Order: sequence, then C-alpha cells, then structure tokens
Amino acid sequence: MIFPIFPSLLFAALLATSSAQSSPSSPPSSTWTEVTPTVASATTDLAASASPELSCNGSPLLCDRKYNNITYMGAHDSAFLHDASTGESLAGNQNFNATIALDSGIRFLQAQVHNQEGTLELCHTSCFLLDAGTLTAWLTKIRYWLDQNPNEVITILLVNSDNVDTSQFGAAFTASGLSNYGYTPQSPTGSSTNWPTLRTMITTNKRLVAFVTGITYTTTYPYLLNEFTHIFETPFTVLSLTGFNCTLDRPSGFPSFTAALSAGMMPLMNHFADTEIALNIAIPNLLDIKTTNSPSTTKTGALGLHAANCLAQWGQKPIFILVDFYDQGPAIDTANKLNGVTPTQNKPVPSTTTTANNTATTTHSGASLTRVSYATFASIISSVLVVIFLSI
Ligand SMILES: *[C@@H]1O[C@H](CO)[C@@H](O)[C@H](O)[C@H]1NC(C)=O
Ligand SMILES: *[C@@H]1O[C@H](CO)[C@@H](O)[C@H](O)[C@H]1NC(C)=O
Ligand SMILES: *[C@@H]1O[C@H](CO)[C@@H](O)[C@H](O)[C@H]1NC(C)=O
Ligand SMILES: *[C@@H]1O[C@H](CO)[C@@H](O)[C@H](O)[C@H]1NC(C)=O
Repeated sequence: MIFPIFPSLLFAALLATSSAQSSPSSPPSSTWTEVTPTVASATTDLAASASPELSCNGSPLLCDRKYNNITYMGAHDSAFLHDASTGESLAGNQNFNATIALDSGIRFLQAQVHNQEGTLELCHTSCFLLDAGTLTAWLTKIRYWLDQNPNEVITILLVNSDNVDTSQFGAAFTASGLSNYGYTPQSPTGSSTNWPTLRTMITTNKRLVAFVTGITYTTTYPYLLNEFTHIFETPFTVLSLTGFNCTLDRPSGFPSFTAALSAGMMPLMNHFADTEIALNIAIPNLLDIKTTNSPSTTKTGALGLHAANCLAQWGQKPIFILVDFYDQGPAIDTANKLNGVTPTQNKPVPSTTTTANNTATTTHSGASLTRVSYATFASIISSVLVVIFLSI
C-alpha cells in the first residue's frame, strides 16, 4: 500500500538483502516478559472485572463512554518491524511489536495481509520484501494479550491485499481463538452511531472490534466488519509535514467528511509521513518522526496539531489514528489528551530513556541516513536494470 510495486521486484530483492533473514525477534528489553500463547481460553472472571472500580482501557472515565466516543491510538503496519529481527528493514514501520504496543496503551492495530499460496501472511507490499509470519500466529498473540488484560477493548484493521474471501479471515480468527472476543454491532452491514459503552463490551467479554477491507459480510463470521461500511479515512501517502489534512480520502461513496459523519461513519486520521526515495517508492520518514508524533498543537506536521485541526473541522475527535513508530512522541499522549484521561496501568512506552540500548535509539541516529542512501543507491541500480531489461 505504501510501496507501489513499480519499478521492479529487483528493488525488493535489494531491499530484502538489507532486511536480512528474519530471526526469532529478541525483546527490546528484558523488562518485557516473554509470552507463550497457549490454548484458546477466552473466558475471564467477569465477577472480578465488573467491580465498581472498573477501569476501562486504563481509566474509569472511559467505562461509560461509547466505543465511538473515544480516540484509539493505532500502530500503522503494526506487524512490520524496523528492528534487529528484520535487520532494521526499511520496510518496517514500527520499532516494537503489537504485544509491546498494546502494553504501552496502543488500542488499534493495523496490518497488511497477503495470500501466500493459500495461507494468509502478514507481508509488507510483497511477501518477498517483508514477511512477518502467518496471520493466525499474530492473531494468537493478540488473543493471548486480551486473555491477560480483561478490561481492555481493542480494534484491529486488516488490509485484505489479495482480496481473499471472508471465510479465509474467519478461519484465522477461529484458529487463533480471537473470534470468541469478536463484537458484532446491531447493524453490521451499515454504519451506526449506536455503539455500546466500553463497560458493556468488557462485561460481555466482546472486546475486539475487527475490520477488514473489501470483505463481503457474512453471518458465519458476524464480527468481521467491512472497514468502509463503518470507517472513513483521511489521505495516507503524505510526503511533506505540511501535507496532513482532514479531508475524506476513502471510501469514494461520500462527497465529503460532513456527509460521512452524518451517516455515522467513524473517522480514521492517518498521520504518518513518508519519504520518496525514488520514483514511486516511499519509505517511512524517520528523520522527522519526533515532530510527526509530537503532541504539540502548534508545530507544523505534529500529531497534536493534526488531531486538533480535525476535531475543529469535524466537530468530533478522530476515533482511530494511525502512526508509524508509535513509541516516538510518544503518540499515545495525543490520544490521552483527546480522551481527557491519564491511564494508570500502561507500561511506559519503550523509549531511549527506558531502554537506552534498544533499536529505538540507533534507528533514529545517523544510521538511518546511511540506510536511506543505500536504498537510494539500490533503487537507482534497480531502475537502470529495469530500463536495460525493458529495452532488450
Ligand atoms: C513481541 O515480543 C515479545 C518479546 O519477544 C514476545 O513475547 C511477543 O510474543 C511478541 N508479540 C508479537 C505480536 O509478536
Ligand atoms: C462523549 O463523551 C463525553 C465525555 O463523557 C460526553 O460529554 C459526550 O456527551 C459524549 N458524546 C456522545 C455523542 O456520546
Ligand atoms: C488533503 O490532502 C490530499 C492529499 O495530499 C489532497 O489531495 C487534498 O487536496 C487536501 N485537501 C485539502 C482541503 O487541502
Ligand atoms: C547500555 O549499554 C551500556 C554498555 O553496554 C551499559 O553500560 C548501560 O548500562 C546500558 N544501559 C541500559 C539502560 O541498559
């Protein structure tokens, strides 16, 4: 989605060499406990979690708010890491994986799904470029996190890159055990402002809202919702920090955000900047990430300012926000400000201060510049090869 395929797979090949072979990912710091997903058990002690002091998504203030009256900070391409496990791949959008992101307060996870010879895999543009494993394995880890965190409501958005059938996604959700948590709205085939409160979702243990692009709704997997039936998005390939706005980009069925909002569509604010390193090839803009993810409401390109602008224009908060490198900023600060809460139980966002020796430090130093230069070089070589190839 961010990397148009042109000019060639050769570029992907060159990039892949810089991405190295995936090795079992090492934790960014020993403070994160190893989790080993076990057999699905979506049952939790409801009696205990429904006590009067219930804290929902980190705050008692959120319990009686409707699902669609809360801002969820989200990790864009959350399965695609720019860390030691991928050789700091340029195709990576996050420093930390989805489990660690959830621990830090991220409540919205987006990922791209490809059909790799019949198996759904989390791949970035192409499975050749960056393959983060099977969808089922990833969903199982998320299901495990929900098992461990009974007062949390999360949202997943999967990009159905190869337009596979709803049943293939349903099979992965079932195999992972995540299907047990899937929430089905009253009108799953139409947008609605009638969403339950977090308290209701927590007490009924339907704590996952799952959106997939381009699927046909089926009652066999009633919780799998077509994204653009419920959500509209702002533009996404933003190449300049002055380029963020609140315009409706998708779906095309609505003439404006005003029309989408009055139809009950929930706004998703895309807030990640790319750098074009060659014709039609963009990579996440790491150099400006501190500005991009800043909660500042005055700095050009800052997350805080973009959200404030959308709030003013739309007359309501963004419900979903997607950022790259969520640990920077940290991005969660902006969601907490919009929600007016200070969540208590989140682990600190991994950062240069809490994990001074992790990849977050090194990837934002001069090393990333070298990689960009390398990639630029690689893309020039590949473009030359394409020209040669096309001319013979
Ligand atoms: C994230 O990394 C931790 C530590 O290595 C691991 O326990 C967890 O399963 C990983 N989660 C995902 C979604 O890959
Ligand atoms: C959203 O939540 C706020 C804070 O609780 C509340 O004042 C407001 O009325 C709610 N809006 C809707 C549309 O429910
Ligand atoms: C918002 O950004 C998109 C993509 O860059 C652009 O096409 C559109 O014209 C912009 N809208 C406004 C109102 O500036
Ligand atoms: C980082 O590494 C250095 C050198 O290996 C070590 O002295 C320091 O304690 C480490 N810092 C943290 C926070 O682990």
